[in-house]
Amino acid sequence: MRLKFVFVLAIVFSVLLPINAQDLALIPTPHTLKVVNNQYLTIKKWKVDGSNDYHDLIETFALQIKACGIDFPVELSRRGKASNLILKEVSGEKQLGEASYSLVINPTGATIEFSHARGLFYGLQTLLQITNSGSVSGNKMKIPCLEIEDHPQFEWRGLMLDESRHFFGKQTVFQLLDWMAFYKMNRFHWHLSDEQGWRVEIKKYPKLTQVGGIGNYSDAQAPAQYYTREQITEIVKYARDRFIEVIPEIDMPGHASAANRAYPEFSGGGSKDHPDFTFNPGTPKTYSYLTDIMRELAHMFPSEYIHLGGDEVHYGNQQWKENPDILALMENKKLGNMREVENYFLRSMSDSLNTLTRKMIGWDEIVDAGIPSNNCLVMWWRHEKPGQLTKALANGYKTILCPRIPLYFDFVQHESHESGRRWDGAFVPLDKILAFRQDYGAVISKYADLVVGVQANLWTETVSHTGRLNYLIFPRIAGVAEIGWSTHSSVDQTGFLKRLETNFPLYEKMNIQYFNPLSPGSTPEIK
Ligand code: ACM
Repeated sequence: MRLKFVFVLAIVFSVLLPINAQDLALIPTPHTLKVVNNQYLTIKKWKVDGSNDYHDLIETFALQIKACGIDFPVELSRRGKASNLILKEVSGEKQLGEASYSLVINPTGATIEFSHARGLFYGLQTLLQITNSGSVSGNKMKIPCLEIEDHPQFEWRGLMLDESRHFFGKQTVFQLLDWMAFYKMNRFHWHLSDEQGWRVEIKKYPKLTQVGGIGNYSDAQAPAQYYTREQITEIVKYARDRFIEVIPEIDMPGHASAANRAYPEFSGGGSKDHPDFTFNPGTPKTYSYLTDIMRELAHMFPSEYIHLGGDEVHYGNQQWKENPDILALMENKKLGNMREVENYFLRSMSDSLNTLTRKMIGWDEIVDAGIPSNNCLVMWWRHEKPGQLTKALANGYKTILCPRIPLYFDFVQHESHESGRRWDGAFVPLDKILAFRQDYGAVISKYADLVVGVQANLWTETVSHTGRLNYLIFPRIAGVAEIGWSTHSSVDQTGFLKRLETNFPLYEKMNIQYFNPLSPGSTPEIK
């Protein structure tokens, strides 16, 4: 009789109840989350079942926990030993998508099901955040029992860092990669050349870094700063261990001044405000030179795509009109004006990348260049030109959405802030990022196959040190992660902020200076 009563109670208490995601503080929000009422897992450490091929991932998980300020032990239990975290690869009828996973926590332990390493990695990131939300008493952690099924909305969830305007170095990049992984972001777009500096070592052209690496936006004479090939390899591996692809950008044919300071023989001239801004598109020498550079980049970066910029060439192509090489090219190739020259250049460099088995990404100007739509990716950035987005999509270009407003992090994030950009008074507070999926909902659903993702971009003209860099990125990065991953078409903003608050102590532990949108006065602007 008594036993039966206990049994009935157990059934009543193990009913799965949907709860508010903010109680578990998961960012981004998983596809589905159900918490088992009144049941908990109580543990002193994660003892991970080691009878699988995923020891590297478990090692990264243990590093991640530390890197994100969560103080909880993780150990690998040897074959046959008791464990409380089971990693279960599933196939056949239970086969999951590449980035999908399920996570079940019951009173005896946690199980992550996945079919691909990437899915397992994301399951572990969710577990890491759950570990942060657990209640601690003494040396024990109590975690609610739950069931999660999860997969991302978008394949591309990116962050771009400009290290030409200011150089931050590899520790800053490692920390960014850790937080991108924490928030399940997966593309690090690295802007490595522009007017102010060239930041990647190219063995065949050493002056690119020795001369082009000199200077930054604050000080044109600052000693050369750049990444060596070994450092790049280390960073690419660090990212790959966190399922992040690194995409280098060498901007061309404009924004090329630093390269042209090193090798003026390839310059196509510039303008009064932007001297030596362009490469010379009129001579075959330029294409061989740039292809040599691309070959070395392809060696360092295994990404499918290399970003060739292609933006704002008109800032400094005025001297093209008088350049005999370019005039000859125009006649030869029947190019009617400077825009057609620019487009010819982009098509040629896209072909060059193909010979290296890579494809081109470009800013949305490249939509007009006539590159086949299956051979490049477009980043739509000019928010005041929605027509350029429609044109890209109508012409079948796979497109990443990164409109300045609300996805440029160099814009100020609070009305009281003084340093940073505005556009006709508009700026980029977190709530504008969180409204993105509603604001762009129509285009996202109309072109579901072509909108491959979202990306935040940090240009660093106004960012001369890591403290300010973090202040601009945190916590807006969490908002971008939410709109990139969540399958829900809108964000419950109040709930999001509640979840976000649980991340602030982690930022503090890791010495990240952040902006608190819930209490703007408590985190004064870092300039
Ligand atoms: C850009 O912001 N010039 C792509």
